[in-house]
Amino acid sequence: MSKNFDYCVNLPEKIEILFKQGEYLGEGHNGVVFLLPDNMIIKFFRNKKVWKDESSILLKTKRSRFFPKIYYLGENYIVREYVEGIRLDKYLKKNELSEKLCKELYEMVEDFKKLKFTRQDLRCKDIFVQLDGSIKIIDPKNNYKKVVKYPRHLMKGLYKKECLEVFLNYVCEQDFKKYTYWKYKIESYLKYQVK
Ligand SMILES: Nc1ncnc2c1ncn2[C@@H]1O[C@H](COP(=O)(O)OP(=O)(O)O)[C@@H](O)[C@H]1O
Ligand SMILES: [Mg+2]
Repeated sequence: MSKNFDYCVNLPEKIEILFKQGEYLGEGHNGVVFLLPDNMIIKFFRNKKVWKDESSILLKTKRSRFFPKIYYLGENYIVREYVEGIRLDKYLKKNELSEKLCKELYEMVEDFKKLKFTRQDLRCKDIFVQLDGSIKIIDPKNNYKKVVKYPRHLMKGLYKKECLEVFLNYVCEQDFKKYTYWKYKIESYLKYQVK
């Protein structure tokens, strides 16, 4: 992957110095990501709207332990905290969904409520499981735009890895009303595609 793509222009000197020491980390539909020194990453966005959405989410989630800290906002890029660990979907191929992990996922969704997200959902591939068993979200999207009242994608991902039941049992122990609602919603979705 070449570093010389057109959206990496006019970087301020301090960012340019860091970027020169950076290495390619990965990319998705919306951006290209490089690892910088001091546990930071830089994500360049292809689309200004996505940059705006992601920046505003990360500014609003500053106090949540589930989101990477934001260090610097550029015109079409964000410098933020590097998240170590393994993607949840890959992690679950080799590991069980432990009680600790259920607790992390449950508390994360509870945090979504506190952050007043209208979309209280995300995909397993955007969650990283860290060495100490805690989780962090790398790529938040549309959390104040779409309306999703239960963690549909998350539970669908857990279902594919055959651990939805373990998660729902944990939810049942915490909050029976929530368990009944989530179970009803995800079963309707999986059986009849009712969102
Ligand atoms: N904060 C981060 N820490 C570690 N790796 C990251 C981080 N952000 C992104 N990445 C890596 O870069 C890839 C692309 O980033 P992502 O934010 O998912 O882009 P997109 O919005 O285009 O999907 C991710 O799949 C991941 O491998
Ligand atoms: Mg992504």
